[in-house]
Amino acid sequence: MSYLLEISDLNVTFETRFRTVPAVRNVSLAVGQGESVALVGASGSGKTVLGRSVLGLVDEPGVVRGSILFDGRQVVGRTEEELREIRGVGVAMVFQDALDGLNPVYSVGSQLSEVLTVRLGHSRAEAKERAIELMRQVGIREPESRFNNFPHQFSGGMRQRICIALAVGMRPKLLIADEPTTALDVTVQAGILRLIKTLQRETGMGLIFITHDLAVAREVSERMAVMYNGQIVEEGATEEIFSRPQHPYTRALLLAHPARAKSWRDLEPIPDEFVTDEPSSDNQTVSAPAPTASIG
Ligand SMILES: Nc1ncnc2c1ncn2[C@@H]1O[C@H](COP(=O)(O)OP(=O)(O)OP(=O)(O)O)[C@@H](O)[C@H]1O
Ligand SMILES: [Mg+2]
Repeated sequence: MSYLLEISDLNVTFETRFRTVPAVRNVSLAVGQGESVALVGASGSGKTVLGRSVLGLVDEPGVVRGSILFDGRQVVGRTEEELREIRGVGVAMVFQDALDGLNPVYSVGSQLSEVLTVRLGHSRAEAKERAIELMRQVGIREPESRFNNFPHQFSGGMRQRICIALAVGMRPKLLIADEPTTALDVTVQAGILRLIKTLQRETGMGLIFITHDLAVAREVSERMAVMYNGQIVEEGATEEIFSRPQHPYTRALLLAHPARAKSWRDLEPIPDEFVTDEPSSDNQTVSAPAPTASIG
């Protein structure tokens, strides 16, 4: 079987004059069509960098080595133009920082409609109708009246929902959702997870869902990969990992209080040996993740 996404021996290193940060180390991960993979791990473990590398969006001074095959095409080492073409055929990402995904100079309605006319060939009228429907599906009230609003007229959480609408509206073959629901209340979160699942059923979309929230990971994924310090230290069927975690780090996360491990925040601080001494950009350690720090 050929995979929708096949990452092999991926290394991403940020090399500056002062230090070298190996953000992703020897990662291999495959995602099939219609499959949902949750990517979990502490702050700074490399989840976002891994996701961004699939779209060829690793910032300077990042160096990417290894292989990322999307739909059989190599992503690593492509020019920006070639990457646009690859993204065009079907990878979309909901970014952890909502500001990344929206253009401040266009109304959210026109950005949504644009995607629908360009990508799916909808007429203007169809696109507007569908855009409003998408806004409603991600929990924006009175979407008709908000259609012409600009991104700065929405709160951070609302912008995040619009980014989700934008990404799923493209009907991508692969959706990478980076902490898409962390800042949202439970009802809205449930609605968005439903929307993503419906889309998967309808279109066979593959999904990489990055989250700190183990309950969400469990709900959304069939397979789970646990990242620690740039590496995938454990990977397998989600239920299998919940019932029989193999790696000491995963165990530390799950075994402390498996029954009440509704969220990363509910878990006991994990033992010192798992706290990475690698300084991360936001000075987070694994014992003190701040799930809300990520969304603007
Ligand atoms: N542009 C950059 N320059 C230098 N280092 C970076 C850059 N982007 C990420 N890193 C480093 O790469 C490592 C992995 O970061 P990444 O953002 O992928 O973590 P994460 O698992 O997504 O964390 P979080 O859960 O907080 O979002 C961190 O040590 C981070 O400091
Ligand atoms: Mg991240």
